[in-house]
Amino acid sequence: MKKIRLLYIIPVVLFASMLLATDFDYENHSAKSTETTNMKAASTNNDNFDKMMSALTHPRCINCHPSDNKPKQGMEEHPHYFGVARGEDDHGFAATNCNTCHQEENNDFSGVPGAPHWGLAPASMNWEGLSKTEIATSMMDKSRNGGKSPNEILKHLTEDPLVLWAWEPGINAAGIPREKPPISKEDYIAAVKGWFAEGAVIPGE
Ligand code: HEC
Ligand code: HEC
Repeated sequence: MKKIRLLYIIPVVLFASMLLATDFDYENHSAKSTETTNMKAASTNNDNFDKMMSALTHPRCINCHPSDNKPKQGMEEHPHYFGVARGEDDHGFAATNCNTCHQEENNDFSGVPGAPHWGLAPASMNWEGLSKTEIATSMMDKSRNGGKSPNEILKHLTEDPLVLWAWEPGINAAGIPREKPPISKEDYIAAVKGWFAEGAVIPGE
């Protein structure tokens, strides 16, 4: 009987001393283990893809990538005021040329957003109403993306002024700041780079 009780005590003591020993290193240890879980998550699920797409599906991008000939405005993606339409070169018609109103930077007095080469994405790059998978497929398809290689798309996504404008969208005509995509610019750029580094895999629906 006594022997059996002792056998119980040994593991308890051992465990307690293990706890004591690891306690001092607890912070270090937990930091390391979350790091490895993150790495595992990135390589086994669509983390980077989902983060990247949380920006690409946001109205700040979609308003310029419509499925018809009209740029959209606001969070509810309503058709552009003044009947502004695509025109022949995606930069509007003579009287309503985009650059009559849109300058190289936001105008926070009038509420007109601005960035270099402001214009509507060509009709082949229509993302409005598409799913994440469909947008990514279109984006990587040379016959629809303006003949861009994967490297050029990576560069466009992380450096183009119209893309980066989404994180500095200014204030609208009512004086209210426009909403930014749900992920910070730094996290977005890291996710885009990560997704390409992992082979730009587009998950199914
Ligand atoms: C007559 C002036 C005018 C012209 C021309 C014009 N815009 Fe605009 N645009 C505005 C104003 C003003 C706003 C801001 C409305 C608001 O947010 O309250 C705006 C907003 C936008 C937005 C909304 C941004 C967002 O995410 O909410 C997009 C996209 C846009 N314009 C694209 C275009 C494109 C593309 C063209 C040319 C084909 C164009 N605009 C021509 C005045 C103009
Ligand atoms: C002011 C309008 C405007 C806004 C806002 C905008 N784009 Fe575009 N986008 C364009 C135009 C114009 C082109 C085509 C010109 C070019 O290829 O340089 C384009 C092309 C692209 C392309 C390359 C073509 C393709 O289908 O692969 C990608 C990728 C892209 N945009 C991503 C984005 C993302 C992501 C956002 C939001 C974070 C965004 N755009 C916001 C106008 C816009």
